[in-house]
Amino acid sequence: MNKTTIAAATMIVLTACGPSLPQLGKASIDEVIAAMTLEEKAHLVIGTGMAGATGDNAVIGSTKGIVPGAAGTTYPIPRLGIPAVVLADGPAGLRIDPTREGDSATYYCTHFPIGTLLASTWDQELVERVGTAIGNEALEYGADVLLAPALNIHRNPLCGRNFEYYSEDPMVSGKIAAAYVRGVQSNGVGTSIKHFAANSQETNRKNNDAIVSRRALREIYLKSFEIAVKESQPMTVMSSYNFINGVYASENKDLLTTLLRDEWGYKGMVMTDWFGGSDIVAQLNAGNDMMQPGLDKQYNDVVEALKSGKLSEEAIDINVRRILEMLLQTPRFKGYKYSNHPDLKAHAAVTRQSAAEGMVLLKNDNQALPLQANVKKVALFGCTSYEFIAGGTGSGNVNRAYTVSLLDGLKNAGYSVDETLKAEYETHIANEKKNMKPIEGPFAQYMPQQLPGEKNFSADHLNALAAQMDVAMITIGRASGEFADRPSADFYLTDANQQLIKDVCKAFHAVGKKVVVVMNIGGVIETASWKAHPDAILCAWQGGQEGGNSVMDVLSGKVNPSGKLTMTFPVKYEDHASSRNFPIDQEVDFTITNTGLKHEVKDLDYTCYEEDIYVGYRYFDTKKIPVSYPFGYGLSYTQFAYSAPSIKAENGIYTVDVMVENVGKTEGREVVQLYVSAPASVSDRPAQELKAFAKTKSLKPGEKCKVTLQVPAGELAAYDEKTHAWHTVAGEYLFKVASSSADIRATLKANVAEQNREVNDIL
Ligand code: BGC
Repeated sequence: MNKTTIAAATMIVLTACGPSLPQLGKASIDEVIAAMTLEEKAHLVIGTGMAGATGDNAVIGSTKGIVPGAAGTTYPIPRLGIPAVVLADGPAGLRIDPTREGDSATYYCTHFPIGTLLASTWDQELVERVGTAIGNEALEYGADVLLAPALNIHRNPLCGRNFEYYSEDPMVSGKIAAAYVRGVQSNGVGTSIKHFAANSQETNRKNNDAIVSRRALREIYLKSFEIAVKESQPMTVMSSYNFINGVYASENKDLLTTLLRDEWGYKGMVMTDWFGGSDIVAQLNAGNDMMQPGLDKQYNDVVEALKSGKLSEEAIDINVRRILEMLLQTPRFKGYKYSNHPDLKAHAAVTRQSAAEGMVLLKNDNQALPLQANVKKVALFGCTSYEFIAGGTGSGNVNRAYTVSLLDGLKNAGYSVDETLKAEYETHIANEKKNMKPIEGPFAQYMPQQLPGEKNFSADHLNALAAQMDVAMITIGRASGEFADRPSADFYLTDANQQLIKDVCKAFHAVGKKVVVVMNIGGVIETASWKAHPDAILCAWQGGQEGGNSVMDVLSGKVNPSGKLTMTFPVKYEDHASSRNFPIDQEVDFTITNTGLKHEVKDLDYTCYEEDIYVGYRYFDTKKIPVSYPFGYGLSYTQFAYSAPSIKAENGIYTVDVMVENVGKTEGREVVQLYVSAPASVSDRPAQELKAFAKTKSLKPGEKCKVTLQVPAGELAAYDEKTHAWHTVAGEYLFKVASSSADIRATLKANVAEQNREVNDIL
C-alpha cells in the first residue's frame, strides 16, 4: 500500500462521512462489515506495507507508520472509525527505532533476556512479570500488538533463532509462552505467538517443506502452541513461513481452522509472518486473516478474486470480522494516551533480576563459586568479557540504550581487573575489527556481527597474572540471529578458545587459584572436550542489557543460581538425531523469496523430520546416548533433599506431592520436574517425558516446602496416527520426581486406565 492509497481512504472520510455511517465500537460488527466496500475489505486484510519494501524482498525494521521502527501497521478506514494499529517485535523487548528525525528525544527500549534464558528460569510467575514489563513498554510507546513470544521447538542446536525460542520440550515451551502472553496482555496490549508451526530452521525458511509425521506434529511441534493458546488466549497468532507436508503454513486450513479454531477453540486473529506464503486467496480461505506487511499485488489479487467469485464475500467477511474484533481490543482503539516514557529504570531492575534467575551453573568444583570474600582482583579473559552480547540479531533484537559487559559488571560489584590485560584486549579487539570483512547486503544490520578472534598469551605472561590476581574469568561468546542458521564451527570452540582455557587453567591452578568460565551464548555449544579444565562454568546465556550485572549477581553470591537447562548439551553435534536432516553449513541466499514447493535439495527445499518424536532428551534418554549436560540440569550453591513422595488419582488427575528441603548452607530455589514413563510393554514411546514442573519459593537452609505436581490422565496419551486419536495405553506408569532428567529422586507407580480421544485426521 502506498501513501496515496491511504490518503485516498482519508479523503473518502471527508467527502462521504455522515451521521448514518456505522462506527466501529459504536455500531455492531455486522453493521460495520455491511458498510464496507469490497475494496475496503481487501485493504483491511493486508497491512499498510513497509518502507523500503521492494516486491517480496523487504527491509525489516524501516517501517513507515505511527511508531517508527515498528514492523507494521493495519489499514485504517477512518470513515467507519477503524484505526490503524501498530504491530511491533519482539520476544526480548519492544523493537522500535531509538531516535527519530527532527526529534531530540530518545525511544530506547529495555533489552530483556533472550527467550532461552527466560525459559531456563522454569519460573512462570517470573516470566509473567517480565511479560508485564515488556507489555508496558509496548503500551507506553504506542504499540498495540507485540510480535512475541516465539515458541518453536529447539529441534537442532544450530537453528539460528533458537535464542528466541524456549526449549526442546513442548511442555516447557508452552507453559513459559503462556506466562509471557498473560504478562504482556495484562497491559491491554496484544501478543502474536509465533511461528505457527514447525519453523525449525532459518535456511531457506520461506520455501522449506517441513516433512513431519502427524504424531510428531501433535506431540512435539503443535503441542507448545496448544498449551499457549489454551492457557493464555493470545490476541493473535503468527503463521510460519515454511510449508508443512507440502502446504504453506499460512495457506493451511487444517492448521489454521480445523486444528487451531475448531479443535483448540481459538477465537483470535491469525496474521502471516512478514511476506509469508504466496497465494492470498488460499491464505484467507485457510483462516489466515491478515497478511503482513502487505503488498500492492496482494490487494489487487483480493479485489480480483472477490470480483471473479474465486473468493466469496462470506469468506473474507470471516477474516474481516476477526480483524475488527482484534482492533476493538487494542489500546489505540480505546484511545489510550501513551506517554513515550515507560519506566526504563524499573525495567532495568526487572531484566537484571530475571537474567540472574535463568543463568545455569553447570560446574562448581570445590565451591569455586560464589567468589570468596577475599577474592577482589580478577584477570578477565576472552574478548566477549569486554563486549558482552545482550541478545540475538534480527527481529529479536532490541534497540537498547546500553549493554553492561562483564567488565562493567565486575566494576559495579566492587571488583578490580588487571588494567594492563584490559588494555591489551582493547587493542586486540580494535585490531581484529579492522581486519573483519564487513557484512554486506540489505540484511547486514540484522545479521550477527563477526566476533573478534580469541587472543592467546605466553606462559610467562599468564604466570605473572596468576601470581598477582585472585581469580581468572574467561568468557566464551557466540552471536546468532535471524535469517541464518549457525555454522557447525560455531558449535565447537575454536582452537584459540581451547588453548586459552587450557593455558589459563594451567597457570592459575599452579598457584592454587580458580578459573571460572562464563558462556555468553544464544544456543548450545560443545562443552565435553574442555569442561574438565575450569573450576566453575556458568551458562549465562544472553541476559539482555544488564547481562554483566546479572552474571556478577550470581558469581558474587548475591543470587543463588536456580536456572536449569531447557535443552540437552550433547557430547558431539552429530549425537542429535536431527543432525542427519538439518542444513549444515549451507550458504545463505538472501535473494531467495517465495520460489514455491520444490523437492530437489535435501534440507533446503525440504527437511525430513526423520527423528520423529525423538527430539532432544526424548532421543538421548531412549537411545541411552551419553550427554555432556542433560535436560533439566543446573547446580545451586545449596543442596536439596526430596522426601515423602506420594501420588493419588482423583477426577482424572494424577497428583504427586513431594517435600523438598534445603539441606545446604545457602538460601535457594529448586526446580522440581516430573517425568513419566509409559508401561515397558508399550513400544515406540520415549524412555520418559516431562509432564509437569514447579519451582519452589526461596528456601532458607533447613526450610522445607511441599511441591505439588499435577498431570491430567489425558496428558499421558500418545498420538496414534492410524486411529487419529490420543491414546492412553492401560498399565503401570512410572512417575519420576526429579531434579533433572538424569537425576531422579523418587519413582512412584500408578495404574492408568485406557483412554481414547479421537481428533481430526489432518495435516
Ligand atoms: C520474523 C518475525 C517478525 C517479523 C516482523 C520476520 O522476519 O520472522 O518473527 O515478527 O519479521 O519483524
